[in-house]
Amino acid sequence: MNLAELQKQVVGMNESVALLDGTRTKYINFDNAASTPTLLPVMEKVNEFCKWYSNVHRGTGFKSQLSSWVFEEARNIIANFVGADASSAVIFCKNTTEAINKLAWRFQCPMIKAMGKDAEKPVILTSIMEHHSNELPWRKVGKVVHVDINSDGTANTFDLYEKLEKHKGKVCLVAITGASNVTGYINPIHEYAEKVHEAGAQIAVDAAQLAPHRPIDIKPKKDPQHIDYLAFSAHKMYAPYGIGVLVTDRSVFEHGDPDYVGGGTVDIVDLESAYWKDLPEREEAGTPDIVGVVALAKVVKLIEDVGFDSIIEHEADLTAYALEKLSSMPHVTIYGDKNPKNARNRLGVISLNIKGMDHALVSAILSYEGGIGVRNGCFCAHPYVKCLLGVTSEQAKEVEKHILARDRSTIPGTFRISFGLYNTKAEIDHFCTVLAKIIRKDYKGRYLVDKERGEYYPEGFNVDFSKFFIF
Ligand SMILES: Cc1ncc(COP(=O)(O)O)c(C=O)c1O
Repeated sequence: MNLAELQKQVVGMNESVALLDGTRTKYINFDNAASTPTLLPVMEKVNEFCKWYSNVHRGTGFKSQLSSWVFEEARNIIANFVGADASSAVIFCKNTTEAINKLAWRFQCPMIKAMGKDAEKPVILTSIMEHHSNELPWRKVGKVVHVDINSDGTANTFDLYEKLEKHKGKVCLVAITGASNVTGYINPIHEYAEKVHEAGAQIAVDAAQLAPHRPIDIKPKKDPQHIDYLAFSAHKMYAPYGIGVLVTDRSVFEHGDPDYVGGGTVDIVDLESAYWKDLPEREEAGTPDIVGVVALAKVVKLIEDVGFDSIIEHEADLTAYALEKLSSMPHVTIYGDKNPKNARNRLGVISLNIKGMDHALVSAILSYEGGIGVRNGCFCAHPYVKCLLGVTSEQAKEVEKHILARDRSTIPGTFRISFGLYNTKAEIDHFCTVLAKIIRKDYKGRYLVDKERGEYYPEGFNVDFSKFFIF
């Protein structure tokens, strides 16, 4: 299959959505960094598998044995996709957030117990650029030290190396994103891995954004550029059936208790003791999301078939086109790299603002009057977005007060467009046309703000969702 054929297989592309003026229009999804739609071959593979579906691992029936075989085949396909060999394990989780929490738990228990005093807690180096899912879990593990960003929003590599040196002997892990969900910057993870290993630490990469857009090779363990831990989500890569993946160095899970215990994790239990199974079962408590795993494995095979080269080419082309158009529009601020020539070296994630307009209002108008789905706010990366916007700590404190008083309408932020392999230049043209109208204040609705939700909605607009979907 080639990319052009795959682009025709995106599910839901012909669905039309309700607009403020009572008409319907074809939906434009520029919110792929949050989640992507699924693909017809994935849906079909899931349907095909459902005929054979049975619980895995413990059944003697033919369907259970087949399902167990499918489940482990899928694991091999996914391991192969990221270059994981026998020294790594692929653990299925719910999403990236759960994968990182699972890893953090593993780092947490033996270390904290051995460390005693607070001052002696291990250091986790992470960056200002992180999604909260690669920030908050680490606070439970030890002292989180943040790598700065440069004035253009890229991670400050020099600062990372300096902090590795400064905390040498105490840093157990560098937890860093593969690519930003705000600016689309891609971090040089293998270059970092080499320095991290030199400093006697390990590296965990949050690949939630990277995995759908770039090939990943974690490399063999003996390679200094090896990635020790990798987390990603299937719903961001055209398989929104509920799974995420943690690819992990096996050794870290060989001792201690799993985070979740129960069925599937144990070899033998009596009333006092339990003996944990080997990886990955000991870390996949309860019945796994077998259908989700099938969906991800199918996507992986499709991506491998099409090849990342053409996906990168297409998305870079869209990104360059959008940057070019947006740069020439008055009152538009682009955060991060604005240069269309650099589109190949970043993801198609672009954060924007219109001078003098709330990001939430712009997003609402794009949806209600343009049928365009974007996202706005801080994208679960509050520290990073605040830095990009130049929000002072006094301003941040003021907003905090409002939020605690249930008023989210003053939250600083941007609105974000993010491309998938199927988006088109025509969609970007439509987006820019609607945006130009918004800039000219040539929009129809009278927008009211729901302070508690921090969202805008047009007066008099009521939509009956049951006309679109019903159980
Ligand atoms: C960079 C990054 N990390 C982690 C996550 C969390 O992913 P999930 O919601 O699938 O757990 C996201 C989600 O947007 C993300 O963009």
